[in-house]
Amino acid sequence: METTIAAPKARSSAETDFLPLQGTDYVEFYVGNAKQAAHFYKTAFGFQSLAYSGPETGTKEKASYVIRQNKLTFVLTTPLRSNNPITEHIHKHGDGVKVLALKVKDATSAWEETTKRGGKSYLEPVTLSDDDGELVMSGIHTYGDTVHLFIERGNYRGVFMPGFRKWESAYNPPETGLLYVDHCVGNVGWNQMNPWVKFYEEVMGFRNILTFDDKDISTEYSALMSKVMSNGNGFVKFPINEPAEGKKKSQVEEYLDFYNGEGVQHVAVATNDIVKTVTDLQKRGVEFLKIPASYYATVLDRVGHIDEDLEPLQQLGILIDRDEEGYLLQIFSKPVEDRPTLFFEIIQRKGAKSFGKGNFKALFEALEKEQDARGNL
Ligand code: FE2
Repeated sequence: METTIAAPKARSSAETDFLPLQGTDYVEFYVGNAKQAAHFYKTAFGFQSLAYSGPETGTKEKASYVIRQNKLTFVLTTPLRSNNPITEHIHKHGDGVKVLALKVKDATSAWEETTKRGGKSYLEPVTLSDDDGELVMSGIHTYGDTVHLFIERGNYRGVFMPGFRKWESAYNPPETGLLYVDHCVGNVGWNQMNPWVKFYEEVMGFRNILTFDDKDISTEYSALMSKVMSNGNGFVKFPINEPAEGKKKSQVEEYLDFYNGEGVQHVAVATNDIVKTVTDLQKRGVEFLKIPASYYATVLDRVGHIDEDLEPLQQLGILIDRDEEGYLLQIFSKPVEDRPTLFFEIIQRKGAKSFGKGNFKALFEALEKEQDARGNL
């Protein structure tokens, strides 16, 4: 099979997007200790305290810390008692992404349009209100125990949403230049990529803009397949990976084993200055995959001229790739929890709209080294 590359088709004026998305509203993580996780994301990634909800604000069963950096909003939620579905989620999956929340103009319509196309309801439209106005939210299930919430905040002026109060902290480490969610990747089980591609096409009106088969993404040992789904305006992109047969265990299989099912593999975050951002992140203790020097010996032959000096890119382990529209710089963190599950990508796009296909081999070899060290290859 060959790689297919399709530009998102321009929609004719007659064809309206039934699920117009304005981008990612927030990413919510279910974690074992939200207070400490919030401290980690502030310290290591430079997020700022934004809002809090918990017993003090009238929420008895859980505590949530909202942190923000530019347009990137994370919510870290932990259960307060054992008999709670969030506790079960953490028991099963470890810390991980529960909610990919999407910003919409009309959360009621988003729920109606998706559920009538076969989406399984997670939350019927509900209006939350306080002195700062009204916020409407609704939601549907996606792969594994992950959900999409539709957030309508056009009539809300508060700091985050009703039920939350402003979180002011004496500890405000500087930001690291992280800007917004570029894409979020899901790992799904054997033969499940195409059913989930169909879900995003039919239920959410997304299009498949890129396909990578196991020939594109394989090393001597392991393989995976991936299809990139994009919404109409390209603001929201969800690549979907499934494992493929190789001599040894694929990184997606390792994830599925340890996450105990399907879920978000990585969140890619944009920056305008990857050298500065990654230098900062490394100083603050964020660990990244190591790329062999041999990669840098030939990379410019493959990608041609780039504006940046190669030396700092090599020192930091930043990867480079080019497509028809430009190039991109990217780097991948190690998992940010003890289970080898969720990690982050930092990406700077200089015209390129693709996902770094030219880096897959070097990247997966680096990943396999880590997998091998864990005894999971
Ligand atoms: Fe990515």
